Amino acid sequence: MENFTFYSPTKFVFGKGTEAQAGSLVKAFGGSKVLIHYGGGSVVRSGLLDRVKASLDEAGIPYAELGGVKPNPRSGLVYEGIDICRKEGIDFVLAVGGGSSIDSSKAIAAGAVYDGDFWDFYCGKPIDKALPVGTVLTIAAAGSEGSGDSVITKEEGMYKRGASGEGIRPRFSILNPELTQTLPPYQTACGITDIMAHLYERYLTNSKDVEVTDRLIEALLITMKNEGPKVIADPNDYEARANIMWAGTMAHTNSCGVGRSQDWNSHNIEHELSALYDCAHGAGLAVTMPAVFKYVMNHDIARFEQAAKRVWGVETAEEGIDAFKNFLISIGMPSTLGELGGKEEDIPTLVKNLCYGDGRTGTISGFVTLNEDDCTKIYQAML
Ligand code: NZQ
Ligand code: ZN
Repeated sequence: MENFTFYSPTKFVFGKGTEAQAGSLVKAFGGSKVLIHYGGGSVVRSGLLDRVKASLDEAGIPYAELGGVKPNPRSGLVYEGIDICRKEGIDFVLAVGGGSSIDSSKAIAAGAVYDGDFWDFYCGKPIDKALPVGTVLTIAAAGSEGSGDSVITKEEGMYKRGASGEGIRPRFSILNPELTQTLPPYQTACGITDIMAHLYERYLTNSKDVEVTDRLIEALLITMKNEGPKVIADPNDYEARANIMWAGTMAHTNSCGVGRSQDWNSHNIEHELSALYDCAHGAGLAVTMPAVFKYVMNHDIARFEQAAKRVWGVETAEEGIDAFKNFLISIGMPSTLGELGGKEEDIPTLVKNLCYGDGRTGTISGFVTLNEDDCTKIYQAML
């Protein structure tokens, strides 16, 4: 196991009706004027937004609001949010929604206290300082409710890039599994896939003797394998929703990724798909992961065999990857580039953006370092 520091100070408030605590939590973390930031309307239709506002009213906290965050959130709305924060003297950003609303809130929070262009953070500058952020989560997926990361797409060029820093780790996150019961099955399945991806990206390691984190990841993967189909069959299964929601948070606070190298090649390869086709991140990952895993499995066949045996109850590395792929298909996820709207002739663009974006110089690195030729073959395997 490698040396590490683990510091994950988000306060998680979990369970039925917990959104009623939004106002008192903002107050407890020093907020006196809030920007409520949300997506395309699901929180309006479900009545959640009104309940959050009532909670802020009760705590005597004034607020401005900005809706309209799109999945794969865009830079344009971030600039708008930064302006509102400055003009209105906002000192706390409250995201109500999924990973997209949370990531956009984090970008606004960082940009509002920065003199330069917030996009600098998405070109590699770490985020040390930001307005405090809180979240009311409505989908178990991205894990942004417990992470110090944010992913934004710049409209000019449709570059999808990540930023990180302790400054944007949420001060609190309200996790009410009931709120996820209104999700369409496809979005639920995208979330399940993303959570499992966050686990696999950590499982694929070159570090030795990482038994504790291996076992934590396997437990969470088995939970997703067992609970996932339950919520697809019955969207109102509260207990399964609850298990998935906490697994999603645990998968990405990095509690099971410490002390080990991690992969993230599947995420990097996928981000080019959701940037180019505007597909859901989870759907892109469902197509990407089996292709990547088959391509790299001989790098450490024993690791893939271990997952095959312990998680999927099969013998060989290849059987384990196939079992995972079939599981994803069974919950309604796509398995080919074509299903995401992709075509073979797009592959050179995908590879160029992947291997030369983000200041890269022809390769991406993780569990295995992949060059342009490798990435071309991986995208071809998705056809
Ligand atoms: O916009 P609304 O109307 O709210 O609808 C959303 C959206 O269409 C809908 N939805 C969410 N909760 C709902 C609901 N519909 C009905 N009932 C509910 N309770 O679901 C759709 C997807 O929402 P979104 O926020 O985009 O989902 P997700 O949480 O999967 O976030 C995806 C984004 O997170 C990034 C992804 O790249 C993508 O841009 N990620 C962020 C990470 C991080 N910050 O740590 C890590 C991840 O790997 C990921 O890259
Ligand atoms: Zn993800």
